[in-house]
Amino acid sequence: MFKQCDILDEKKSKTLRQVSKEVTFPMDEKDVLLMNNMVMYLRLSQDEDYASKNDIRAGMGLSAVQLGVLKRFFVISYKKEDGTFDEFKVVNPKIISNSEELIYVEEGEGCLSINRYVEGIVPRYARVTVEYYDEYGNKKTVRIREEMAVAFQHEIDHLNGILFPDRIDKKNPFKDQDKMRSI
Ligand code: CO
Repeated sequence: MFKQCDILDEKKSKTLRQVSKEVTFPMDEKDVLLMNNMVMYLRLSQDEDYASKNDIRAGMGLSAVQLGVLKRFFVISYKKEDGTFDEFKVVNPKIISNSEELIYVEEGEGCLSINRYVEGIVPRYARVTVEYYDEYGNKKTVRIREEMAVAFQHEIDHLNGILFPDRIDKKNPFKDQDKMRSI
């Protein structure tokens, strides 16, 4: 299992800026194991007791590149109010359609590789349809919205070397705010 300090930081690593490579199947056992560990890490990070005891930040998404593995896969784990998790293990994703409507996260997006406050809005599609493969190479299609849609777009950006501050207008961090819905 990896630790918080194994997650690459934007200030120290250029790897985060590289484009990850398509995964071929069958997937390396090592990578399948890594994926499972990534899910476990995110689950634990959303456990308040565990997170405060171990001084780790809560996260709902993590891409392989954040652990130095330049392959196109990421995981999402999102704890719902009833305590269960919405989880995805996503390999070679492609956005095949998106809403016209744009949204942004009111309190700002977070990233386990960015340990500073970043002001401004990150425009995201409100709804996206994503085609991807699971770890066994089965093709899946998912239609997602709101937070989950933002999370997928954030992680797909990671696979292309893009970090969320890149999507904030440098001159006017709140540009076009009135044209988007906040969530
Ligand atoms: Co991130």
